[in-house]
Amino acid sequence: MTNKEILASAEAGKYAVGAFNIHNLESLQAAATAAQEENSPVIVAVTPSAIKYAGLGYLAEVAKTAAQSSSLSMSLHLDHGKDIDTIVKCVDAGFTSVMIDGSHLSFEENIALTKEVVDLAHPRKAAVEAELGRLAGFEEIAVERREAALTDPQAAREFVRRTSVDALAVAIGTSHGAYKFKGEPKLDYKRLTEIKEKVSVPLVLHGASGVPAWIVRKATKYGAELAGAKGMPDESIKQAIRLGVTKINIDTDLRLAFAATVREVLTSTPTEFDPRKILGPAREAMKEVVRGKMRLFDSSGRA
Ligand code: G3H
Ligand code: 13P
Ligand code: ZN
Repeated sequence: MTNKEILASAEAGKYAVGAFNIHNLESLQAAATAAQEENSPVIVAVTPSAIKYAGLGYLAEVAKTAAQSSSLSMSLHLDHGKDIDTIVKCVDAGFTSVMIDGSHLSFEENIALTKEVVDLAHPRKAAVEAELGRLAGFEEIAVERREAALTDPQAAREFVRRTSVDALAVAIGTSHGAYKFKGEPKLDYKRLTEIKEKVSVPLVLHGASGVPAWIVRKATKYGAELAGAKGMPDESIKQAIRLGVTKINIDTDLRLAFAATVREVLTSTPTEFDPRKILGPAREAMKEVVRGKMRLFDSSGRA
């Protein structure tokens, strides 16, 4: 399926669908198996650096195998695509959705690049996501520059009208990674409400990992150094969904679950060296994280 179809159902049902970043067989299986067990739609997301790591053909084929082997409502999505060449290669490889991230460009340059991708992807039945605003935590932006960094609702309306993009990633105070907030988590819900009023396409929340304390504790117990790690509280996610976000991107929480479990297995069974005995429990831990997100986003039972 394309994200356009998946997100149209989410808009109608007032829930959100998780986009889970994958980069190998185990992370793909974690997302796909969780979707089957939860009977949830799922967006499998692949970044250019995941492509660099694993190879586009390998990732596309394992994802297609998952999609064919079940009645999953699944899309294969390029996350943070930066150039036309990557977009073309992904659409050729069977991706049903692509993100073009022109958030670092000027407004006009972002529009021009996004429009080029839309003109290329739509005739080939692929949906397009774009990003407007800069994804950075509140503390990272000086107060006087905040307005310029976060998504402007009026600009968002113009951007969507001029590009015909299918979904828009917005900057309302979230950031990528495990260190999202130095103080209390803070998101600009007023801005999100205004964007939702002005924009008719589905809204996307990047940088939405929760960085659960229990996973951080487990990783730390087995040697990880993660002082100051902090993510999005579940309540903030629920509020973002209530205000109209329908696609939620998760990468960091899967990485943390993977790393904590690999550390645990290697530390507690020093004689073990079979990759399947090391990666199997890590795959299971990632799957449980995905299942938890599907319940939090209320996409369980919606496939
Ligand atoms: O925004 C997506 C990721 O969290 C960053 O992923 O390290 O695969 O580029 P990457
Ligand atoms: P996290 O780093 O919060 O998991 O965000 C992932 C993301 O936005 C991928 O596009
Ligand atoms: Zn992102």
